[in-house]
Amino acid sequence: MLITDTLKADHRLIIKYINLMEKYAEYDIKCSAGADDSMLMAGAASFFQFIDEFAVTYHHAKESVFYKYMEEPGVLINRNPLPMVFSDHSNASERLADIKGAFYSNNVAELIAAVERYVVLSMTHMFKEDNILHAMAEDRIADSRKTEMLKKFEEIDRQLDIRSILEKYNNLFFELQIYYDKKYRQLAKQSTKNINWRVFPVNSRIGRRLEMA
Ligand SMILES: [Fe+2]
Ligand SMILES: [Fe+2]
Repeated sequence: MLITDTLKADHRLIIKYINLMEKYAEYDIKCSAGADDSMLMAGAASFFQFIDEFAVTYHHAKESVFYKYMEEPGVLINRNPLPMVFSDHSNASERLADIKGAFYSNNVAELIAAVERYVVLSMTHMFKEDNILHAMAEDRIADSRKTEMLKKFEEIDRQLDIRSILEKYNNLFFELQIYYDKKYRQLAKQSTKNINWRVFPVNSRIGRRLEMA
């Protein structure tokens, strides 16, 4: 029996949003956007809404249950990655606060930099969960405990009404993607002379992609 499929499915939706938020940031870098024409500024409230409601409230509620089962005797035998995972969570909230701070102070350059830091941390964190923590859980948690955990996940699904949440955020993603495609098509028609390649350091994740573009 697999109990981590549901956590992995959450990650897939979170990754979709994070990748799109990063694409918004790349657009702003290419256009040297100011606060008035920044795509990231325009989409920020939607990204915040998704992260707060889906990633932080819903997904973390399930993970709190999951971590409790991981802490039971016999699960973490040789090494305990949980302190590292908890520290990722608190770093992610600080970085999210930086993103919101940059947004509310209308600072596009800082917003892009804060998004970059958040993207790198979140992607690394989910990779560790998917490939280390989940494997340990599947291997070492007894089936009876897994069944109990699944019931707790289902209770969270009911309490938070996951069907409506998923419907809302699948639709929102679609809208954000359409907005991006439309803006990008407009950008593609313009001369590339105005692109400012040096706004973002080339050794960053976003910078590397721009360099390859
Ligand atoms: Fe996590
Ligand atoms: Fe997670």
